[in-house]
Amino acid sequence: MPDATFHFPPDFLWGAATASHQVEGHNTNNQWWAWEQLPGRIAQGHKSGRACDWWENAEADFDRALAMNLRTLRLSIEWSRVEVEPGKIDTSALDRYRHMLRGLRERGIEPMVTLHHFTDPMWLSESGGWTSPDVIAYFVRYVEQVLEALRDYATLWCTINEPNVYATSGYVLGSFPPGVRNPGTAATILRHMLRAHASAYRAIHNLQPEAQVGLAHNLRLFDPARPNRVMGSDPRDRAVAWIQDLWFNQTTLAALGGAFIAPGIRPTWWLPPLGFGPAFGMRKTLDWIGLNYYTRDRVMFDRRAADTGYGVQCRTEGAEPMDGGYGEVYPEGIIRAIKRLSRFGLPIHITENGIPDNDDSQRPRALMLHLHQIWRALQDNYPVMSYYHWTLVDNFEWAEGWTAPFGLVELDPETQTRRPRPSADLYAAVARGNAITPELLNAYTPELRQKLLPG
Ligand code: FCB
Repeated sequence: MPDATFHFPPDFLWGAATASHQVEGHNTNNQWWAWEQLPGRIAQGHKSGRACDWWENAEADFDRALAMNLRTLRLSIEWSRVEVEPGKIDTSALDRYRHMLRGLRERGIEPMVTLHHFTDPMWLSESGGWTSPDVIAYFVRYVEQVLEALRDYATLWCTINEPNVYATSGYVLGSFPPGVRNPGTAATILRHMLRAHASAYRAIHNLQPEAQVGLAHNLRLFDPARPNRVMGSDPRDRAVAWIQDLWFNQTTLAALGGAFIAPGIRPTWWLPPLGFGPAFGMRKTLDWIGLNYYTRDRVMFDRRAADTGYGVQCRTEGAEPMDGGYGEVYPEGIIRAIKRLSRFGLPIHITENGIPDNDDSQRPRALMLHLHQIWRALQDNYPVMSYYHWTLVDNFEWAEGWTAPFGLVELDPETQTRRPRPSADLYAAVARGNAITPELLNAYTPELRQKLLPG
């Protein structure tokens, strides 16, 4: 009898991912808080408010993570709490983080600490945010303070979350603060973020030689929408998919690979977009690479859509849409993304993956399918070290406010009442057994059993 269980490697880390502004509450000193006060910026006028109350009581959710058998938790440090004014460090904020990290380790949960997850201190955004190269030195100074204070409690560091999303949402689409639509500025922002990453990498290693430092990249796939009998797909759609990928993925990945000179990089990686080059010292500034994967876009050429590289998104026929226009559920994409990142020759952490789904009608199935793809990648020896589900408890979802619940655990932000969704039990069982078993498939997603375990 073949073993009908999908086993994961013994040292595989099961976790969940969070970010300071989305969970802590009362982060009044950053640009997102200011943005939330403006009319029309956040869905239904929602505000982060008390969020998940982590500043007061993250530990209650750490207990939940432990009860779910998680061995790691990704959280971020809020720059605006640590450095309240330029150069002015609030040591009580660092004490609070130290307490949190110690609390995680006492529970046997290894923290992954992100140093920048979308939020900037007010003093920084008031002076232009990431538009000036001065930000690189500011960021390094803050990172050094964090390292001094917290290095006894963490070795797994993620410098910056999704520079591509920060630049695209804030400076191309205008849906994040500061609501600018200027691709040139977006490119400048991205360049400064990547250089800040590289400088932070070195600063962290100076202070903690054993540190494991990476960056989380949101790898969204762009596929041409319309088929073409001769060429496989419509050449115009292919061109716009290529342009969108160049901006959203390739620029960052090429820069992180050192632009021209990374070994094993395919010729298409040679493009030096935005003037990145070896001179920026990006090479060898990763110990691992983080993959945030949610979906892919099917892209169609449209000459009216100049601001998106002449591409518009289309629905894939037969695909399952996620709630709230988040795109299609496309689990095969995660293995494509893993393969692409494997060109770095580095360990890969799946730093985010999840789905907004209030009634948990899609999440169990989506979770199983994505985990099954990761299992397949592991069978092919791709070096996937961990999986962090986005997210543990429903939290403040940026421009979507509270309308996009990604949590394994449901939260009523008013009353702070929590209720685990069925997916939480499912994920806890996978983490406990370090495997997807036929019993789990039967119990949570019987319709998948035949698909994943035929016969
Ligand atoms: C990612 C962000 C994370 C969360 C998820 C849904 O792009 O990093 O904070 O908003 O999307």
